[in-house]
Amino acid sequence: MTDASQLKTDIEADIAAAQTLDALEAIRVAAIGKKGSVSALMKTLGKMSPEERQVEGPKLNALKRDITDAVAARKSALEEAALEAQLAAEQVDVTLPVQTQDFGTIHPVSQVMDELSEIFADMGFAVAEGPEIEDEFHNFDALNIPAHHPARAMHDTFYFPEKEDGSRMLLRTHTSPVQIRTMLSQEPPIRIIAPGKTYRSDSDATHTPMFHQVEGLVIEEGIHMGHLKGCLEAFVKAFFQLDSIDMRFRASFFPFTEPSAEVDIRCSFEGGTLTIGEGEDWLEIGGCGMVHPRVMTACNLDPERYQGFAFGCGIDRLAMLKYGMTDLRPFFDGDQRWLKHYGFSPLAVPTLAGGLS
Ligand code: PHE
Repeated sequence: MTDASQLKTDIEADIAAAQTLDALEAIRVAAIGKKGSVSALMKTLGKMSPEERQVEGPKLNALKRDITDAVAARKSALEEAALEAQLAAEQVDVTLPVQTQDFGTIHPVSQVMDELSEIFADMGFAVAEGPEIEDEFHNFDALNIPAHHPARAMHDTFYFPEKEDGSRMLLRTHTSPVQIRTMLSQEPPIRIIAPGKTYRSDSDATHTPMFHQVEGLVIEEGIHMGHLKGCLEAFVKAFFQLDSIDMRFRASFFPFTEPSAEVDIRCSFEGGTLTIGEGEDWLEIGGCGMVHPRVMTACNLDPERYQGFAFGCGIDRLAMLKYGMTDLRPFFDGDQRWLKHYGFSPLAVPTLAGGLS
């Protein structure tokens, strides 16, 4: 039937020429849609004699099937071409160098915090946090610093206005309240460090009203000062990347530890440069001691069963020592030139395996 075969030729030519999915769909509808040309031909079957229909029916069905197949084939070809074009357009050259300067730099304090977390994680410590706005219980009382204790004035605390019940919130003067929060919320064994911001009313070249500390706390059965010393020694070696260091524990006093000590490391200032690990001078890096039984009791822990040690170090000072800054104040000036000079690449995340800095 010439009518049908001509139609087939025409439609297949249109299909092959269709350049978009929309154009293809229009061709499909015009051919085999309800009002399409092929459908119109199919309708003529009804008027045919049964003999004629027996001949023409299968032909028309074959025509419809062929067109359906041709549309489907063209559709997948167009879709594939569209995908290829998209992939080509969105191609990223992963070998291009990364432009790190757009991200800014990592502040030395953040860098040291990341280094500390990495070093202590390797020794099985988790990182704990607490609020910077504290209450007197966590910052003082539970740490065995009762009201009117001279240590309370010593800390030059920033207080908030008194509440109706007479209590006052405050800006935490040290990270030690995180010890209390951790002991009250976790069962031993406890091994945490808590880096964070701390506040005291103090300001000169080596003191800023806001500064950073890292607290360490270990509570387990059978913990003694040897563990404390070994832990701090491992930390200092890893932090300063030295094979050996010389440490000294100087007897000291903190209400929340007994015995208490201040930790010094051997250093030299010869020629105006600081060298850690050798020389005739000593540099204090923090305070430490065995957790006081009263602190344990305040946290509902049995001091007969558990022992623990705690330490606190100034992070800004650690950063100054390691990276050679002499003045603390520019740490918090937000000066782009300083940040550019002393900052770290955001992509160079410190790891023990890959290097801390
Ligand atoms: N919290 C003490 C301070 O700020 C440091 C410290 C922490 C001392 C833990 C002993 C144990 O000075």
